[in-house]
Amino acid sequence: MLSIRNVDAYYGESRIFDDLSLDILDDKITCLIGRNGVGKSTALKVIMGLVRTTKGRVVYNNKELRKMQPYNRVKLGIGYVPQGRDIFARTTVQENLELGLIAQGKNAKVPDYIYDLFPILKEFAKRKGGDLSGGQQQQLAIARALVMNPGLLILDEPTEGIQPSIIKDIGTAIKQINKETRLTVLIVEQYLDFALDIADMIYVMDKGKVLIEGRTSRYGSDEVQAAMLNHNTEGA
Ligand SMILES: Nc1ncnc2c1ncn2[C@@H]1O[C@H](COP(=O)(O)OP(=O)(O)OP(=O)(O)O)[C@@H](O)[C@H]1O
Ligand SMILES: [Mg+2]
Repeated sequence: MLSIRNVDAYYGESRIFDDLSLDILDDKITCLIGRNGVGKSTALKVIMGLVRTTKGRVVYNNKELRKMQPYNRVKLGIGYVPQGRDIFARTTVQENLELGLIAQGKNAKVPDYIYDLFPILKEFAKRKGGDLSGGQQQQLAIARALVMNPGLLILDEPTEGIQPSIIKDIGTAIKQINKETRLTVLIVEQYLDFALDIADMIYVMDKGKVLIEGRTSRYGSDEVQAAMLNHNTEGA
């Protein structure tokens, strides 16, 4: 379980939020949604240790992370795919995946289930990362995070700029791995239908606060959309 309590976040002197709290439950898929610029990616950076915080608690499996280096958070089993998926363009698909294995020692090998989840990565193993389509790069980025065998997988807008058929494949893969391995997943999304389709739990975030939270089944898409839009018309 990951618990964020009353944290703030700063870029330089600019404060993005000052009292954010979220709970990410084990074995569940949780979606954090909200309009552009409300601080969703910043919330993920708080979890990874990539942004400055001065207060609050970030607790993962009973360990306090807030002052821990990002690298050590990854070692605790938190996998992170940042927005815009930064795969290595000049190395092959296979090499990209093998980079995820470095922490596991010399004889580690990319597990077969990764290629079952994303068959295209097997087919294109020898292609350069940069020659894949955006959707294929996103699949590669997710696969590379999975190779590290995380207990919590964090994805920042995996559907951004991707064609619908691949969005569907990605959603299916995430649901499958969550079901089969009980991997806990936290996804930031703006694409509401995708979020409602895959998430067990949903948070709607506005500037630094959470407007809606709970089981996805409690909310219809109209209700979630209204929570996002209402605030829009009030102006930020
Ligand atoms: N490196 C940075 N330096 C300064 N300000 C930043 C930085 N990154 C983000 N911000 C600002 O912090 C605020 C929150 O940004 P963030 O990227 O967390 O939003 P978001 O909800 O992920 O938006 P989007 O949906 O567009 O990805 C925005 O006002 C943004 O301009
Ligand atoms: Mg973002």
